[in-house]
Amino acid sequence: MIKKLLLMFFVLATIPAVAKVNVSSLKVNHLAEPAGITGAPTFSWVGTSDRSQDGQSAYEIKVYDIDGRAVWSTGKVLSDNSIAVKYEGAALKPASRYSWQVRIWNSKGESSRWSAKQTFVTGLERDGWKAQWIVPPMSEASPLLRGTFKVTKPVKCAIAYFTAHGVYEPFLNGGKIGEAFMAPGYTSYNHHLMYQTYDITNLVRRGENVVGAELSRGWYLGMMGWTDPAQYRFNFKEQEWAFLAQIVITYKDGTQEIVGTDGSWKTATGGVLHSAIYDGETFDAAKVPEGWCTTAFDASGWGAVSTAGYGFDTLFPQENEPVMAEQTVDAKELIVTPKGELVIDFGQNLVGSEVISFTGKPGQKVTISHAEVLDENGNFYTTNLRSAKAQSCYICDGKPRNYSTRFTFYGFRYIKIEGIAKEEINLADFKAQVRFTDMEPTGRFTCSDPLVNQLQSNIQWGLRGNFVDVPTDCPQRDERLGWTGDAEIFARTATFNRGTYAFYSKWLKDVAFDQLPDGQVTDIVPMVHGLVGAGHVGWADAATIIPWTVYMAYGDPQILESQYESMKRWVDFMAGAAGESYLWNTGWHYGDWLAFDVDNDVAGRSSVTYVPVLQQCHFANSASIVAEAAKVLGKAGDAAHYADVASKAREAFCKTYVTADGYLVSHTQTAYVVALVYDMVPEDMRPKLAEKLKERVESYGHITTGFLGTSHISNALTACGMDDVAYKLLLHKGYPGWLYPVTMGATTIWERWNSMMPDRTIPDNGMNSFNHYSYGAIGDWLYREAAGLKEAAPGFKKICVKPHPGGGFSFMKAEEITPYGKAVSHWTLEGNVFTLEVEIPFNTTAEIYVPTAGGYELHEVGSGRHVFSSEI
Ligand code: BGC
Repeated sequence: MIKKLLLMFFVLATIPAVAKVNVSSLKVNHLAEPAGITGAPTFSWVGTSDRSQDGQSAYEIKVYDIDGRAVWSTGKVLSDNSIAVKYEGAALKPASRYSWQVRIWNSKGESSRWSAKQTFVTGLERDGWKAQWIVPPMSEASPLLRGTFKVTKPVKCAIAYFTAHGVYEPFLNGGKIGEAFMAPGYTSYNHHLMYQTYDITNLVRRGENVVGAELSRGWYLGMMGWTDPAQYRFNFKEQEWAFLAQIVITYKDGTQEIVGTDGSWKTATGGVLHSAIYDGETFDAAKVPEGWCTTAFDASGWGAVSTAGYGFDTLFPQENEPVMAEQTVDAKELIVTPKGELVIDFGQNLVGSEVISFTGKPGQKVTISHAEVLDENGNFYTTNLRSAKAQSCYICDGKPRNYSTRFTFYGFRYIKIEGIAKEEINLADFKAQVRFTDMEPTGRFTCSDPLVNQLQSNIQWGLRGNFVDVPTDCPQRDERLGWTGDAEIFARTATFNRGTYAFYSKWLKDVAFDQLPDGQVTDIVPMVHGLVGAGHVGWADAATIIPWTVYMAYGDPQILESQYESMKRWVDFMAGAAGESYLWNTGWHYGDWLAFDVDNDVAGRSSVTYVPVLQQCHFANSASIVAEAAKVLGKAGDAAHYADVASKAREAFCKTYVTADGYLVSHTQTAYVVALVYDMVPEDMRPKLAEKLKERVESYGHITTGFLGTSHISNALTACGMDDVAYKLLLHKGYPGWLYPVTMGATTIWERWNSMMPDRTIPDNGMNSFNHYSYGAIGDWLYREAAGLKEAAPGFKKICVKPHPGGGFSFMKAEEITPYGKAVSHWTLEGNVFTLEVEIPFNTTAEIYVPTAGGYELHEVGSGRHVFSSEI
């Protein structure tokens, strides 16, 4: 029976005589703290207005040089664009400081004030490098490097550029420059080495200055990969550490001086005796030459460096946010395990380092081991770290210190302490510092079910832990690699939760750099030579899916422009391998990795999807993405060509793998899911596939998908009008399902549905991580469908609000900082009264679908707060 519809609609806004229009959140190249800008930057901003249904009708940008002179002024430009407006003034000078501001006009022609100015410093072009690469002798201990320079005149601006083979921390006059960890970051070093840019104007002194760095092996010179250390120890061309620094000083009198690394620099080893990404760090406090980076220090006993001709051809300015300490977590509890181990619990599985305030006696050795879980008996469990030692060793010197590692990171919730007596442990002195790429938090999802809120928390912690400069599979064992499949699966969820434009833009460059000459995309990026393969379905599609995801989320076509060749090359590879049949069915593949399987499977319950089915769906989808990207970039010929490839791939799929009744050759949840989300069958066949999918879910009573199906199953169900099934899967508390780990006390997403068994035993299966973000891909559905907030046009210029109430939830709320400002979809259900509160940012429009007893009712609205109510 269709109930009587009660529909109310309020716009909650005052209608002021004169609107208050404002502009803020300025960004250059999508960064709130831009540095190292080369070429023409782009400018973005967020407008607001206290008038509802309002938008931008015009903008004006001014860019100023270091002396405050305008170097570019757009005048009033009639445009509603506020995302990535490209600089079109005269070429910017390298090694200089600029600022810019913007003002806007709203739809009624009322203007904002000029925004506050945002400053940015420019980078060095390749031919601007005058310094020499320097090389300290190879040793186990981290080298310190030290150089001096004199400042003779009043300084207008001093910009420093640093990079290394290895990882480094930069110092000037006794203090660390900036707060970043793990610079210069993890990239495909043979093609792409980032340098960092620091404005050190306020740190340089008149007279003598000491500049320095501490180096460690990091990703460049450390072991990456899990098999034979000898084989994978040195991944990149140069197998010795090296450092490069250049400081460009512009004096107030207009003259410029360049100082940098050269043969005059001196070196000695420091307190870090050993450091490795997987194994951890040994630090001997007594070995730190106190004050080594100050002018008072006598470095006459230090050794010489050699210089090397590595050149500058692979240098790029860092384009993403640095790895930073985001938050500090207090110790929750000191545990003495049944084995007698002294263990501190931080209450949260996280990634970073311990920070310990401990003085100790000279020579006292404190060993700190890391673990994600305790075993079924409550003992410290490290089997799942495989060969990674993940251990800090702190040798005290009797002076008060805040000890933490600086050139590695751990994935842990628990630390085991050896070398300090229980009575000496003061919990308040033990903290965990969370470190990852400093991306803007943009998403918040909350709802009426505490378990689902914990799931969302676990998803966000999975993101924190696996965005340490590259998107990784896991952060703890001897892996921590940029697996393309995991990245592809999680990218949609990641963009809801954090501002990922710069992060992915940087990593996607390496996807392209590492791509094989025949177009195949490597399994991991940066690639570790000889470790794994390329061209694998669902993994290689990161090359197409992620640029498209980023474009849709942030609305800047530059990501498509930069990645276009790479995207095309991957699709061309598949098309080439498919040949005239348009069936891509060759090669070995990971397939629907980690799908539900059963030991001694006599009843055939394991959920194994025929790999060519997966290949065909991904082939067609990636071809469609390239066709869409070609349209955005105005390449009509390519758009037609790839649309044709996609449609032929779909026809071949239907002919080969689908029966007239809508059965697929693989009768698995994953097969139906990917066929549905990648639009593989004609419209009239969809209900038949949907029915089979439903049958497959009901037959098991739970999810059976692996990586490739899990990231889409809920979206597929919702798209086919089966929210009830999607909610059943979401709320299933047993194994396998999203809430099973939550009920087991998980604080991150597990690699496997059963990383831990109900009796808390932990399967020793050679591959078991408690912080793998892939299954967290349900996060996308929570925002997009359950709470109902998604982009209807690139960058959320048009928003779609279409909630899917159900599952017994009494409310859901998605809040998203879109490129235009905050958007909210907040629904509540009391009895049968459904209320929807929506917030739509300035300069966007929205289509709001309000659920009613008879379906959805559509409202087209502009910016502002809107409240709807109906009976459902
Ligand atoms: C990783 C995965 C990855 C897989 C390839 C594993 O070792 O942890 O998440 O995608 O290998 O199948």
